[in-house]
Amino acid sequence: MSFDRSIKIAPSILSADFANFGAEIRAIEAQGADWVHVDVMDGHFVPNLTFGPPAVKAFRPHVKTVMDVHLMITPVDPYIQAYADAGADILTTHIEAGPHTHRTLQAIRAAGMKAGVALNPGTPAEAIDHLLDLTDLVCVMTVNPGFGGQKFIDMTSKVRKLRSMIGDRPIHIEIDGGVDPKTAPLVAAAGADVLVAGSAVFKGGSVENPDVYGANIKAVREAAEAATA
Ligand code: DX5
Ligand code: ZN
Repeated sequence: MSFDRSIKIAPSILSADFANFGAEIRAIEAQGADWVHVDVMDGHFVPNLTFGPPAVKAFRPHVKTVMDVHLMITPVDPYIQAYADAGADILTTHIEAGPHTHRTLQAIRAAGMKAGVALNPGTPAEAIDHLLDLTDLVCVMTVNPGFGGQKFIDMTSKVRKLRSMIGDRPIHIEIDGGVDPKTAPLVAAAGADVLVAGSAVFKGGSVENPDVYGANIKAVREAAEAATA
């Protein structure tokens, strides 16, 4: 995985047809997705439950781009090796998931993955100041995690702050929650480069009608790129 700050669209398969993940992943990639975002929820850290390592391992052969795995679970450390074995390229943990995020990020990198750290809307940018040298991606939540299709919470000032804290270090800023063609320009202008979008990509489309995914991805991308030009 090479690093750059161009806009990358990462559809969240939380909004895909759960009975058809392989075909859904192939469809969004064929329609221009840059990364595939995989939301792992445990019904404990967040009030919803999705899937675990065996499912993520089953997704792997369908993902030709980057498999970006967002853990909304606690504890994290006992499962790091399982997600490495499942083939995650990036593994993101929440700063709120436990007291030892520093150790968790070291362990994610030691297992051969890129390490991400996510911040809930109530968590300030400064909380990860001492973690940035262990981090490849900062995920700024623009909803309270747990569900797709929620309303965007404006975290523009946090993104701007993180962008300046990061400086020229090769660290992505990812936005997760409520991203659509209206909200994407706000965060792109503030310095985000990876835009997760669930409902905004999958709405109106299907594996039988995948052109809609392509048009949805293009709409988010063009809105974001116009704001960075
Ligand atoms: C929220 C998840 C998101 C979610 C985004 O807990 O982490 O990735 O799927 O969905 P939308 O784009 O519909 O807000
Ligand atoms: Zn997510």
